[in-house]
Amino acid sequence: MPRLAVIAGDGIGPEVVNEALKVLDAIEARFRPGITIERLPYGADHYLATGVTLPAGEMQRLGSAFDTILVGALGDPRVPGNEHARDILLGMRFQLDLFVNERPARLFDERLTPLKGKRVEDLDLMVFRENTEGLYVSIGGIFKQGTADEIAIAEELNTRRGVERIIRHAFSWAREHGKQRVTMVDKANAIAAHGLWRRVFEEVGAEFPEIRRDTRYIDAMAMDLVRTPEAFQVIVTGNLFGDILSDLASVLVGGLGLAPSANRHPGRVAMFEPVHGSAPPLAGKDVANPMAAILTLGMMLETVGATDAAAAVERATRAAIAAGITTPDILSGRHGTRAVGDWIAEAVGRV
Ligand code: IPM
Ligand code: MN
Repeated sequence: MPRLAVIAGDGIGPEVVNEALKVLDAIEARFRPGITIERLPYGADHYLATGVTLPAGEMQRLGSAFDTILVGALGDPRVPGNEHARDILLGMRFQLDLFVNERPARLFDERLTPLKGKRVEDLDLMVFRENTEGLYVSIGGIFKQGTADEIAIAEELNTRRGVERIIRHAFSWAREHGKQRVTMVDKANAIAAHGLWRRVFEEVGAEFPEIRRDTRYIDAMAMDLVRTPEAFQVIVTGNLFGDILSDLASVLVGGLGLAPSANRHPGRVAMFEPVHGSAPPLAGKDVANPMAAILTLGMMLETVGATDAAAAVERATRAAIAAGITTPDILSGRHGTRAVGDWIAEAVGRV
């Protein structure tokens, strides 16, 4: 029986997670994947009440007592330093060594793209973002803070092993999914360290002779992704560029309200989260789009082997979009978070 930990988190997190769990209930009734759920209270409220972001030993338990983790969102204006999000979200990515951040961007309906004249077949992307290194490693610091001599340093870490494993993962995924092309994104023309990415990409890519290798500098990629998204299938890049490109890719297919993601290390616990944040101004208003969280649930179901259930979640979400059952962020929707969740939960039982 797959064991799921749920961290609903802050802002709109609990609202969208409630809808995802509503859909999971309906999935249980129809497909019986037998998933057991443990809800965990971590987030800003818990931190402000206890002073603890994550209790001692809890990270280790997350890594060993569960097969999957579902996160809503973390981030709260009452914690301006965002230290709880860093400890919990980045903590899971780093300490559980979830080196793959998998962020698909597929166009479900032509009306959802802001790009003129693009059809659904033009936008089908998978972004693989390296998730444990890069500029996110907190190597560096601030010296003489608040003075005219202040120095702020953030080192970017790129290890041979780290670069190689994410690139190999991207090629393997491309092969398994019959993709013909992998694009690696870096800034090797200005950052000498990115030469490592180029060399490893060539070397690992040679093991996949049927797949075309393609490279872009990040600035050109930002332009080309908007201009000719149909030229891309699988994108692999470092932590910060992946953060940025995944937001860009998501807006091309309808925005963050529809963007799911998975954080993986094959063979270990996997953590799933919508790409969006906690959106404090939207919290408690029943307006947040629950589809990203619901599609994220679909990725989780696929991962635990509940393939039919995962397909039903996607079909039901597509059906909701087609029927105009959406929140205001897409297609001028007039439905609330709960109503969209209710509709999809009902639809997974029949579509
Ligand atoms: C994301 C978010 C996080 C990141 C933030 C909240 C630290 O933007 O998951 O993309 O930068 O990775
Ligand atoms: Mn981001």
